[in-house]
Amino acid sequence: MADALTLERSASAHTNAKMQVVNLVKRFENAATGQSMEALSDINLTVQKGEFLTIVGPSGCGKTTLLRILAGLIEPTSGQVLLDGVPITGPSPTLGFVFQSDNLMPWRTVWDNVGFGPEMRGERKKDYAPRIEHLLELVGLEGFAKYYPHQLSGGMRQRVNLARALAIEPDVLLMDEPFAALDAQMREIMQDELLRIWKETGNTVIFITHQIDEAIFLADRLLILAARPGRVQELMDIDLPRPRTLEIKRTPHFTEMADHVWHGIERQVRASIRHEQFASGAPKRSGAELAS
Ligand SMILES: Nc1ncnc2c1ncn2[C@@H]1O[C@H](COP(=O)(O)OP(=O)(O)O)[C@@H](O)[C@H]1O
Ligand SMILES: [Mg+2]
Repeated sequence: MADALTLERSASAHTNAKMQVVNLVKRFENAATGQSMEALSDINLTVQKGEFLTIVGPSGCGKTTLLRILAGLIEPTSGQVLLDGVPITGPSPTLGFVFQSDNLMPWRTVWDNVGFGPEMRGERKKDYAPRIEHLLELVGLEGFAKYYPHQLSGGMRQRVNLARALAIEPDVLLMDEPFAALDAQMREIMQDELLRIWKETGNTVIFITHQIDEAIFLADRLLILAARPGRVQELMDIDLPRPRTLEIKRTPHFTEMADHVWHGIERQVRASIRHEQFASGAPKRSGAELAS
């Protein structure tokens, strides 16, 4: 049954735009050849306040580029990104990032890694310390505050990474394949935890993944990006009830949606494999990951 927060989220979903992408185009110029490549072509998208949007698409379709533009880390060639209705011109303190590989500082303890953002912002330690303690609890690492990254498993490091992104209390959490390096079981645990944290914090999440089941399990809406040039192929409502447990992945409706997404991108994934093989001169990978 839907709880109050879920109901409030779906009600506000129709009125509250958090991020808007308007006629976004990104071209990369190759200085050596003088050629230009269109990575993203006329993307239009509105992400609602409190929404969980996931993005899938074949390798090289521009997912990371889109996220970096949303983060204000790179500029679009044309078009705009609005955050709370205001055009973004650079990295915003209200946006948190989690990338595929953790960016933990090996010489800092877990506690000091999580506290890095507030420390850099000049907050007083006694003000942000309770927040760090709470976040360590939230990600299940309260007993590991004094550990160093090399003493932790991959899953634990990725949870520190998540806590670190949350420590700046972001309105929007941008995540680029954050669980890709984890094994299947750890990934499922992290998916579960991320939903729990999202519910507790109420922030907006934009989450890139190449795992179709992960994209469906987490999402309110799922965006399929098409490749060369990157463009919106389909935006799907994921109408699964919340809270979700992992068993939902085995229901017929879930499987139908996963088949639908796979059929939507299979041809492109196969084309991108050929493209990569052509570009590198050797076979690099199979489409199995996206098929799973
Ligand atoms: N800094 C860059 N300079 C030139 N080309 C780039 C740059 N970043 C990405 N690209 C190209 O843009 C396309 C999209 O890349 P990317 O956003 O990383 O795709 P994805 O994350 O979906 O795999 C690719 O063809 C990639 O080679
Ligand atoms: Mg990428």
